[in-house]
Amino acid sequence: MVISNSPLVSPDKYMGVNPRLKIETFQEKCPVAAGEDVIKGLTQTPKTLPAKYFYDDRGSLLFEKICALPEYYVTRTEAKILQDYASEIAHLTGPCEIVELGSGSSTKTRILLEAYQELDHPLHYLPIDISGGILEQSAYDLLKDYPKLNIHGIVSTYETALKNLNPSPLPARMIGFIGSTLGNLKPSECHVFFSHIVEALQQGDYFLLGVDLHKSESILVPAYDDSQGVTAEFNLNILRHLNNIFEGNFNLQQFEHWAFYNQTEHQIEMHLKSLRSQTVELKKLNLAIELATDETIHTEISRKFELEKIQEELRDLGLVSLKTWTDENQWFGLILCQLQGN
Ligand code: AVI
Repeated sequence: MVISNSPLVSPDKYMGVNPRLKIETFQEKCPVAAGEDVIKGLTQTPKTLPAKYFYDDRGSLLFEKICALPEYYVTRTEAKILQDYASEIAHLTGPCEIVELGSGSSTKTRILLEAYQELDHPLHYLPIDISGGILEQSAYDLLKDYPKLNIHGIVSTYETALKNLNPSPLPARMIGFIGSTLGNLKPSECHVFFSHIVEALQQGDYFLLGVDLHKSESILVPAYDDSQGVTAEFNLNILRHLNNIFEGNFNLQQFEHWAFYNQTEHQIEMHLKSLRSQTVELKKLNLAIELATDETIHTEISRKFELEKIQEELRDLGLVSLKTWTDENQWFGLILCQLQGN
């Protein structure tokens, strides 16, 4: 993959306006090469799409709407844990650069920033998100609210950003991966992802991980198939995004959102079901695919975890749990680990 290091908008916009803000974009130079994963997914049986294509600016905004839904317990449960324990986290880590993977609107990060500010720790925040629009907007909002905050944002995939991190400007670094985004990775991808985390940390640095835990299907399914249809819109938006970037002709009216809980794998699965037999083209990828009536495209898994198992996996990589917090229902877990030597 060829990476160019070009800013999101003109560099003057940031340099002249606010010396506390820097945003870099690591972009794949060749968009067709970037779509190889789409070709692979849509030409296999059953068809799949990589979940990263949910997140154009519209998809990120739809995800923000999901986070506020009454059925989507994930965000508010984790936010409550953060509210209750952010101060303890800040005491445990001391001053550290806060790196956040999949920062989105950075809403929950504010809770952490408040806690570090309260202790008078210097505030260095490094948000990483694939969607430049939402990262830029939230960076400006944060700078207004935190006069001592410095932000260095990176618009890219997690993997690329983690490989390109500069040394921390503070004595330690904490990489935050909250919101249970880990659940959107397959077990094999999880393992590779953790190894990238370890490479981006020095001994003594921290990893803060939020994970959604096992719970009853009656709570899980409505969270991914809400009554207002926002999750359905989010799921369908992946097709709109592909249409935009690869000159596609997916007709969104001809697909239906489908979500269910796979009890064996302990994961929610989201699919898009074709409502008729149809041919779809993605011109820029030189790709035409056939879909039969009721054929599905698998768009996302959302795995639900057991705290002990995930802690064990982290420990095997040298990421030792310092402390773990949960909510009163034990629906969600927040794990603070430290990278320790072999
Ligand atoms: C981003 N991620 C943690 C969400 C989840 O719960 O798996 C994505 C999502 N998909 C549908 N609703 C929310």
